Amino acid sequence: MLEAALEAIRGRRWERIVVFTGAGVSADSGIPTFRGAGGLWRNFRSEDLATPQAFSRDPALVWEWYEWRRGLVRAAEPNAAHRAIAKLERAVVVTQNVDGLHARAGSRDIIELHGSLFRVRCTREHTTGEALEPFGDVPPRCECGALLRPDVVWFGEMLPAAALDRAAQEIAGADLLLIVGTSGVVQPAAGLVSLHRGLSIEINPEASALTSNCDFAIAAKAADAVPRIVEGLL
Ligand code: OAD
Repeated sequence: MLEAALEAIRGRRWERIVVFTGAGVSADSGIPTFRGAGGLWRNFRSEDLATPQAFSRDPALVWEWYEWRRGLVRAAEPNAAHRAIAKLERAVVVTQNVDGLHARAGSRDIIELHGSLFRVRCTREHTTGEALEPFGDVPPRCECGALLRPDVVWFGEMLPAAALDRAAQEIAGADLLLIVGTSGVVQPAAGLVSLHRGLSIEINPEASALTSNCDFAIAAKAADAVPRIVEGLL
C-alpha cells in the first residue's frame, strides 16, 4: 500500500496539504496513546481525570495526572514522523494532540484542536499563559487567587471555536490529507475528515474508524511510513 500511495502522490503538484494527527504520531516518541494496548484510558478513568466535574471535585488529583503527563512529554523528543511532517513547510498540521511535539519538531502552522499541556487557564478570568516548567505545588493558582487549570479540552467541553473553524476550512480545501495515528472516534475532531474532497492517505498500524473512507491506508508505524511519504512529496 505504501508503494501504491507513493505512486499516486509522486509527480503531482500538491497545493494544499493538511496533516491530521492523533496520539499515534507521538507513540514512537514513547508517549502513551489513549486507546488500545497500554493506552491511558485502559489504566485511568477519564471521568476521574479529564472532565470539568473531576477538576471541581479534586483539582490536586487532576493536576497530579497532568504533571505526570507533562513530565513524560518533557522527557520525550519528536520522532521521525514529526520531523518529516515539519519538512512540509507549507502544510497545515491539524492535531488532536496536546504534547507540543509538532512545534518542537519545527512545524509552523499548527492547529491544536484539544489545547496544550504546556498552557494554563485561569478558572476565573479565563486568561491563558504558557507553563513549561513543573509546578512545585498542585493545584497551581493564578495571581488573582483562583485555580489554574490545564488549557486542554476535557470530555463534555467545546473545542476552541477558532481552531475548529479554521481546521474545517483547511481540511475542506486541502487537495491532500494525511491522517496519522488517530483512532478517529472522538468527535467533533474526527468528523472534520468527512469535509475533505481530495486524496487521502492514512498511516496507522491498526484499522481506524476512518480507514474505510481513505484512498490509501498504510498499515505501518508513523515513524517508519511518514518519512517515506514526505520524501515522495518533496
Ligand atoms: P487514540 O488513542 O484513540 O488512538 C491512537 C491511534 O494511534 C490508534 O488508532 C492506534 O492504532 C494508532 N497508533 C498506535 N501506535 C502508532 C504508531 N506508532 N504510529 C501510528 N499510529 C499509531 O488517540 P486519538 O485518536 O488521538 O481527547 O484520540 C483522540 C482523542 O481522544 C484525544 O485527543 C484525547 C482522547 O480522549 C481529549 O483529550 C479531548
